Amino acid sequence: MKNQIIDNLKQYGQEHLLTFWDSLSGSEQRELLNQIESIDFALLAHLYQNRNAPTELLTLANRATDPPAYKFSTVTDPTPCKPRKSVSVQAAVSAGQELLRQGKVGVILVAGGQGTRLGFPHPKGMYQIGPVSGATLFQFHFEKVLAASQHYGCQIPYAVMTSPATHHETVDFLEQKNYFGLRKEDVFIFCQGTMPAVSPENGKVLLHSKGSLALSPDGHGGMLAAITKKKENEISILDRLRQRGIEYLFYNQVDNPLVRICSPEFLGYHLLSGSELTSQVIRKRFPTDKVGNIVEADGRLYVIEYSDLPEEIARQTNSDGSLKIWAGSIAVHIFNVALLDRTSKIATSLPFHIARKKVPFIDIATGEIIKPEKENAIKFERFIFDLLPSAENAVVVEVDPPNHYAPLKNASGSPADSPETVKRDLAAMYTGWLRKAEAVVAAETPVEISPLFADSPESVMQKIEKGTVFDKPTYLQN
Ligand code: UTP
Repeated sequence: MKNQIIDNLKQYGQEHLLTFWDSLSGSEQRELLNQIESIDFALLAHLYQNRNAPTELLTLANRATDPPAYKFSTVTDPTPCKPRKSVSVQAAVSAGQELLRQGKVGVILVAGGQGTRLGFPHPKGMYQIGPVSGATLFQFHFEKVLAASQHYGCQIPYAVMTSPATHHETVDFLEQKNYFGLRKEDVFIFCQGTMPAVSPENGKVLLHSKGSLALSPDGHGGMLAAITKKKENEISILDRLRQRGIEYLFYNQVDNPLVRICSPEFLGYHLLSGSELTSQVIRKRFPTDKVGNIVEADGRLYVIEYSDLPEEIARQTNSDGSLKIWAGSIAVHIFNVALLDRTSKIATSLPFHIARKKVPFIDIATGEIIKPEKENAIKFERFIFDLLPSAENAVVVEVDPPNHYAPLKNASGSPADSPETVKRDLAAMYTGWLRKAEAVVAAETPVEISPLFADSPESVMQKIEKGTVFDKPTYLQN
């Protein structure tokens, strides 16, 4: 048995993976074997050989221009956008509401990341981020889906992607919380795949322990393969959603509690512009802002990472002084189910990106665990926004961060995207909603609104009497 595996591994220069085979128990050997068998070593060799190949995006940046865009109604920045075709706010809202009432919209949450920067020892969705309630990120997201279901009288199916790093804890947590009020049959939890980390010197896969490989989730783009994967005797999650009549999937990431899940206005721009993939963007604050830039080139949309955008191109401006490349992706999208289905059948729809990371590993010579001080490994990840060029009529919708975007990325005490800044931004948004309803919120007083109480400033107006005073920390819930 061992010799046969060694022969296979030798073809790809990976036989070191069995260095400690004889010291492993039977079950450890089986586990290692399973991991080895799940790896496409030919693909890995190809990715490693091409790790320094110049990306097409560099040449594309020279032809890049701003994408067709709509402005969400909460945006106050007056810089004009060029829409694909003219759609009024009212038309967008009505069209989106109708799609929801017809039960054609599902939601997908990606929650498979390892959250290394946050340094929280559980899945990030379990982080308590409510500034008054202490609600977890999962609670915010689940209640928003439930609120939309109640609002539009439909049962919105909710697909939640985990990874081996987050799966079991997420499943247990959500079950223990009774899916925050959603019906169990409306929640579809599925696990994404992994990719091995390799040494930059020779492409050899690193060992995490003597009997396991250094594997990590294959990026949020792993969603495409995972959602269309058929398990034995089971149809894929995407097919199950299709059987329920779902034609559109609202997509968001676990780290942003401000996201307006199933926003009718956002859905309406998508539908009425005939787009297959619509992405929310924010206006970059300065040319070298560290966001993925959504651009148009040759009639298609692309994301060019800030690290791939030459500075002289990033600095180009229009005659009014505004940036030409202005649209920063915030990873909120709507996908047509048909687009996901079509692109999942094309192996090259989503390229792998490489990232150099610090990955602890076992030294083959000594069997010791090494915790590296600097980057020692290459990881391979797919990004879901790379579907943009495959989409017909893709468009973006500009949103304003105070009402839509505050991601939890960094550990407590960091200057940006930390628990403190996200709680502050949440409280500020809800204060804005209450003041719009002509309530009085005392300075420095945190307020929070459960999505089940009100899921928009308009619904707050219907529930709060003008002049209501909030002078102590308050959590509004049903
Ligand atoms: P990030 O790239 O910010 O990664 O993920 P992260 O795991 O949250 O944090 P770091 O980089 O390790 O500190 C953005 C979103 O994509 C999801 C994450 O769960 C988060 O919602 N994601 C990321 C996945 O679902 N799978 C992945 O393989 C990577």
